[in-house]
Amino acid sequence: MDDNTTYIARIDPNDPDPQAMALAGQMIRDGGLVAFPTETVYGLGANALDADAVAQIFAAKERPATDPLIVHIWERAELEQVAVAIPEIAYELADAFWPGPLTLILQKHPDVPPCVTAGKETVAVRLPAHPIAQILISEAGTPIAAPSANRFSLPSPTSALHVLQDLAGRVDVILNGGDTNIGVESTIVDLTTPVPILRRPGGISLEQLRQYLPSLAFKAQYLADDALATAPGTLLKHYSPAASVQVFSGPPARTLQQMRATAEKAHTSGKTVGILARDDETAAFAGLDVQVVLLGNTGEQMASQLFAGMRSLDSAEVDVILVRAPERVGIGLALYDRLLRSAEGQIIEVQGDE
Ligand code: TXA
Ligand code: MG
Repeated sequence: MDDNTTYIARIDPNDPDPQAMALAGQMIRDGGLVAFPTETVYGLGANALDADAVAQIFAAKERPATDPLIVHIWERAELEQVAVAIPEIAYELADAFWPGPLTLILQKHPDVPPCVTAGKETVAVRLPAHPIAQILISEAGTPIAAPSANRFSLPSPTSALHVLQDLAGRVDVILNGGDTNIGVESTIVDLTTPVPILRRPGGISLEQLRQYLPSLAFKAQYLADDALATAPGTLLKHYSPAASVQVFSGPPARTLQQMRATAEKAHTSGKTVGILARDDETAAFAGLDVQVVLLGNTGEQMASQLFAGMRSLDSAEVDVILVRAPERVGIGLALYDRLLRSAEGQIIEVQGDE
């Protein structure tokens, strides 16, 4: 589309309006950009087989052309349209986890334009579980390339409002299907390497994947310069709010004490402080002049609230955000990864016993 109007369509995920979905699919076929909810975060979609449409994604997000996109499909049969030499394990993982928050890296089909994969011979593919995403891809009649619908390096959007904040005037339509459920991005597994590698922890846990893929390797990799990264997107500064994030790790009670002391000190030196806290941690910050945003108590609740929490503290214009690192199990591994990146690789280790 040529003008700078962004249309927002409210779509009920439980009863998507067929006419609106058909129009959105047409928009994709016509080379436009449509933002849509998935079960993880909102995506910024374009026809994956149309290089000009895909180029608009990079422009809208201000994303470097070196960072490849995920191709979204709505039925298993579409996999063979975008990937070749698909190993048996890919189908086994698809049986277990699709539709859902798992992205597989496979050998690229020649029909996928190089700009989608940033010139790589591999392609990332996923079949999302969200009904609006599935219907959009099906109505478009083509696989949809979509990164998260945020400006590059900002926290991923978990609501249509977040998309609008970042991309107003840069996307033709936003399908507003309400808040996303999981809240962190899909898990990325590379099946093109001699040993399969977990490239990004996400909505499907490492433990779940190892039941099917015992050899799955994972080494947290955080590089300051994307040019050095073997996997693009492992660069450090990512998922960052404008405020500086300080992540604390250690025995809970001591860690909360240190966070409280840090908050007091920052406040005394004239800084505005925000805290991302579990529901049961509020007492630790009682009486302080700080903005506390609650994330819930379970890993799943925290994942669904993390990016929204960062954005709401940014809206409150805090200078610094304090947060306690979760255990690196289950979805906690993805949470830890996103927090580490938002803190540019720094974790404050708190020593001592409980
Ligand atoms: O949950 C999700 O995965 C969301 C929703 C919209 O599906 N999408 C998402 O896309 O998080 P994005 O672009 O923000 O992150 C995709 C990651 C990037 O870090 C990119 O570098 C990596 O996938 N990636 C894509 N293709 C790749 C490839 N061929 N090899 C290695 N990494 C790849
Ligand atoms: Mg992203």
